Amino acid sequence: SSGGRVSRRAFVTGTFASALAGAVPLLGGPPAAAAPRPRAMVLRARPATVSLGRRTVRTWTYNDEVPGPQIRVMAGERVRAKLVNDLPAATTVHWHGIRLDFPMDGAPGFSQEATQPGKTFDYDFTVPDPGTYFYHSHVGTQPDRGLYGTLVVLDPREPLEYDEEFTVVLDDWLDGIDGTPDDALARLNASTDHDDTLRSEALGGVAAEMTHPLYLVNGRAPDTPMTFRTAPGRLVRFRVINAASDTAFRVALGGHRMTVTHTDGFPCRPVNVDTFLIGMGERYDFLTRLDSGAFPLVAVAEGKRGRAFAVVRTDRRAQSPASDVQVPELTERMLAYRDLEAPSSLDLPRPSRSITVTLGMRPSGNEWTMNDKVAGDHLRLRVDRGETVRLVVENQSPMWHPMHLHGHTFQLRMPDGRGPRKDTVNVKPRQRVHLDVLADNPGEWMFHCHNLYHQEQGMMGAIGYG
Ligand code: C2O
Ligand code: CU
Repeated sequence: SSGGRVSRRAFVTGTFASALAGAVPLLGGPPAAAAPRPRAMVLRARPATVSLGRRTVRTWTYNDEVPGPQIRVMAGERVRAKLVNDLPAATTVHWHGIRLDFPMDGAPGFSQEATQPGKTFDYDFTVPDPGTYFYHSHVGTQPDRGLYGTLVVLDPREPLEYDEEFTVVLDDWLDGIDGTPDDALARLNASTDHDDTLRSEALGGVAAEMTHPLYLVNGRAPDTPMTFRTAPGRLVRFRVINAASDTAFRVALGGHRMTVTHTDGFPCRPVNVDTFLIGMGERYDFLTRLDSGAFPLVAVAEGKRGRAFAVVRTDRRAQSPASDVQVPELTERMLAYRDLEAPSSLDLPRPSRSITVTLGMRPSGNEWTMNDKVAGDHLRLRVDRGETVRLVVENQSPMWHPMHLHGHTFQLRMPDGRGPRKDTVNVKPRQRVHLDVLADNPGEWMFHCHNLYHQEQGMMGAIGYG
């Protein structure tokens, strides 16, 4: 299968635009250019049996697929998606990273009540900014069962030259989650094995809470890897999304350097690296001109044992790389946040004040806090509409946290004042980061850890303004 593939030619000839506002299957099926434009797409959340390679699992899905269908639209266009809830539990769809109108945010208890079994919810919003995004349930740990899919927003004035693109969604798979949302948490607690925990240099501490039986690329385990097929010499854009609940990955493409061009959907000044670390909820786009052969695309689970694996193939006859291949690039030049910088046109105004948010852990060890508060009686930050505020996020807990803000793309400010636009940032233990937020989209926006287990164990707050 050559999933997630769209030819650049179809894009520039304009046949694309009219055919885009729909869903295309990520695995197999016709390329987006051939997809009919539906009046409105349906996301049917329901239990299904899916194959992850050799292993077949019973789990929760959108439209019987993991990941769910890819949605492709032009910036400025509308997404109209009807959620049909055929699950035995309430659910929502959250559009991760999109600066949308607050009532469409899919945040239960914030922007809407969760949609009950047998009921529907009509999501209808305009997507202002091009980029690589994803959507997922925002109820409990439901995304960990497979309730996620990708959302690609194309730029009608695309300044980036490339021949073709592939979407790469990473996931950590935990089997047998098919009861209530609390079921998953119970499994997590049962499987937590701190003796088996590995240290991660990149994340500055203990990275793993649990080991997973499988790590997936586009829903495929390493035993039956996803294969991206194209021709040698083509300049390919990879859109990499970490949809895992509990795992960061170190990503490399064997034999190739990567030019990172986008951070969480937004352009950055291009940086050449051999590998990058991607936390839960983060996205990176990179460009590579492909050589002739078959190359391993490897995503090593950071601080854990295991990896996700796919093959990039430009030569039919080339021998397939093994999934356990050592990619030397993984130890070479790794992308750091300080390498990243938004183009000056995307710089946010200077903040007028700062607000400190301290990430902590209660002594019991299974409650994660924001300014000593936990979900249920959560932290509520107030800002004024139109102002730019600096969130000073200080991690005083022993684990790292990928912190995500809904409805905005903040600017991560390095000490020299530069920095990329992002909506999710990894905060290491004992580290402090500066996030500048322009309050231009009124609502009561979730600000939380995208480790879904930390989120469920308290690390959930909100930033609100009218
Ligand atoms: Cu990707 Cu609050 O979520
Ligand atoms: Cu966390």
